Amino acid sequence: MKPRKDLLDIESLSVEEIEHVLAQSRPFKDLIRRSVKKVPPLRGRHVLTLFYEPSTRTRSSFEIAAKRLSADVTNFTVSTSSVVKGETIIDTIETLQAMQVDYIIVRHGSSGVPNLIARHSSASVINAGDGNHAHPTQGLLDAFTMKEVCGDFAGRRVVIVGDVLHSRVARSTSTILRKLGAKVGFFGPGPLIPDDRHADIVTFKTFDEVFDWQPEVIYLLRIQMERQKDQYFPSLHEYHRLYGVTGERLKTIRQRGIYIMHPGPVNRGVELVDDVMTYEKTLINQQVENGIAARMAVLHWLQPGTVMREMD
Ligand code: CP
Repeated sequence: MKPRKDLLDIESLSVEEIEHVLAQSRPFKDLIRRSVKKVPPLRGRHVLTLFYEPSTRTRSSFEIAAKRLSADVTNFTVSTSSVVKGETIIDTIETLQAMQVDYIIVRHGSSGVPNLIARHSSASVINAGDGNHAHPTQGLLDAFTMKEVCGDFAGRRVVIVGDVLHSRVARSTSTILRKLGAKVGFFGPGPLIPDDRHADIVTFKTFDEVFDWQPEVIYLLRIQMERQKDQYFPSLHEYHRLYGVTGERLKTIRQRGIYIMHPGPVNRGVELVDDVMTYEKTLINQQVENGIAARMAVLHWLQPGTVMREMD
């Protein structure tokens, strides 16, 4: 495998690279369950988190992952930085670059910002979510979680339900699963299912059709009101009735032993009823724990400064 400086999306990863990160996530998961959780590989390295959008899971799990690997971590708080005085992203990056950080973990509302930063920095840039483009570490942690419960990917069926159009999670997770040999379906309100999807992605009109396809995993997405410019369905109540995991649908899911995944944060009463959170095959907390292991594997794998790209 060639050294890789940045992790910007799933599309540009080879299957070998993906399998390497998934394999490395396993021992890191064992490590974070031990009483002594810290190992030295990133001692002396500096990780900067740069979040222009809110986050609970991704930011904190990156911070924990970096600290478990003995790196120093600085959280750049956009709301109290000179960004609010009008400083541009490039000027912010030039300033942070001068501080000689080794990794920049960035989340931004506009697609492509992590790529821009990667071109201006010798630090390893990790995309922690950009617009509706990509969230590669979510894809990796989802694949790692599915591997734990299903063993392999070949022919496994995963239905992604909800606002696929606006979801960087759907893009990254469907891409990684397809690369690994799983079959992917999309289900949701018609206008929220992208027309430019890959030809091998199956779509459904009703939850009954979803069940008839016999998926191993139903992957629920959060309705992203903040990214929707138009009204795509009449009401949240109607969305729940047609596309949510209701109490009745949970009975079918339990009978068939289907796993439920969700990237979080969940909208209770919209994507799912409360009982889903305690259903024995709901993997939501496992996804959160695996997020630390997968992000440790990513930080350990990337090589800051190995490729200095040309400045724009
Ligand atoms: N899954 C996810 O990206 O969650 P956060 O927005 O809390 O980071």
